[in-house]
Amino acid sequence: MNLICFGWLLSPDQVKLIRKVDKKRVPDYFALYAVEKEDILGQIGVVTVDTQCAHGIEKIGYIWGVCTKPSAAKRGFAKKLMGEVHERLQGENIRYSFLGTGKSLVAYNLYRGLDYSEFTILDRGIKVSKSSKVGHKDITFTPTPKNETVVNLFKEYSKDLMGFVKRPNNFLEIRKAWSWMPYNFVGVFKEDKKPIGYTIASIEGKIIKVRELCCPKIEDLQRCINALEREYKPNHMLLEWVIGSHLEKDFIKSGFKLFSDSWGTLMVKDLKDKYTIDHIRKLYRIEEDKFHMTSIDEY
Ligand SMILES: CC(C)(COP(=O)(O)OP(=O)(O)OC[C@H]1O[C@@H](n2cnc3c(N)ncnc32)[C@H](O)[C@@H]1OP(=O)(O)O)[C@@H](O)C(=O)NCCC(=O)NCCS
Repeated sequence: MNLICFGWLLSPDQVKLIRKVDKKRVPDYFALYAVEKEDILGQIGVVTVDTQCAHGIEKIGYIWGVCTKPSAAKRGFAKKLMGEVHERLQGENIRYSFLGTGKSLVAYNLYRGLDYSEFTILDRGIKVSKSSKVGHKDITFTPTPKNETVVNLFKEYSKDLMGFVKRPNNFLEIRKAWSWMPYNFVGVFKEDKKPIGYTIASIEGKIIKVRELCCPKIEDLQRCINALEREYKPNHMLLEWVIGSHLEKDFIKSGFKLFSDSWGTLMVKDLKDKYTIDHIRKLYRIEEDKFHMTSIDEY
């Protein structure tokens, strides 16, 4: 199913590994399937994630892997499976269901028809890295740091933020197990031997795809970006994605162009059908640049 629909080889071993490392978020049924005469025709996955919002911790559902085999399309399988997942989430007293999609996909009609609304766009940024001699030699860069260092830096960075900030300590292991979004590189920036930031990235030739780059002190961001450029001499750095994070303005100051225009969208549905999208956005203080989510949080 996943190979046909997404080009993603989700092997039985990978499912086993995901179940083991992502125990708290993955339900016992792993994913739901539409089956006809032993033929698997449709799939929907959901995980439950603790998020931070203005009134405290809110456990949400995050939907992944919605697909129907092309030969079984338009027979209502996806709609039925979505309905089943919504019921199961409500059975666990979960109010909000999130998912990431593209407005250019037919799936967008499915979600709109089920009363999902756009919470925010999934924005990208790009920086053309011209000089490999950019300054700040005082900042060193350590690839393959201790997991604990990254965990502590993220806790400090996110202490006043909302959204996807309640990460388990084995978050990096979890993301590696899912292999979505892929990364091949984690590094920590240090000044006077003290960690001041980290990045999770994918280095592909002369392009650095930054999944996340966090500095607890915003003013360190530009110097860390420069340290990365000095070390790896990329032609381009891509940022995917930045959503309402309070670092957005500082990425721009550091030479990134953010498009504020994208087919990518993060959608949400109030399963109790009560709150407006404006109310939900306020809960996560998105207008105040307090919402944190990067591509590494996506399922
Ligand atoms: C999106 C997808 C899961 C829909 O599966 P499906 O079982 O065919 O969907 P359903 O028959 O339940 O249709 C439900 C609604 O989806 C929308 N929809 C489905 N196929 C559509 C198409 N080809 N064109 C436009 N809208 C479509 C319609 O709104 C439909 O409601 P309607 O029948 O009342 O008009 C399927 O097309 C798919 O697997 N796409 C490729 C993978 C993908 O993009 N997944 C989503 C990732 S976010």
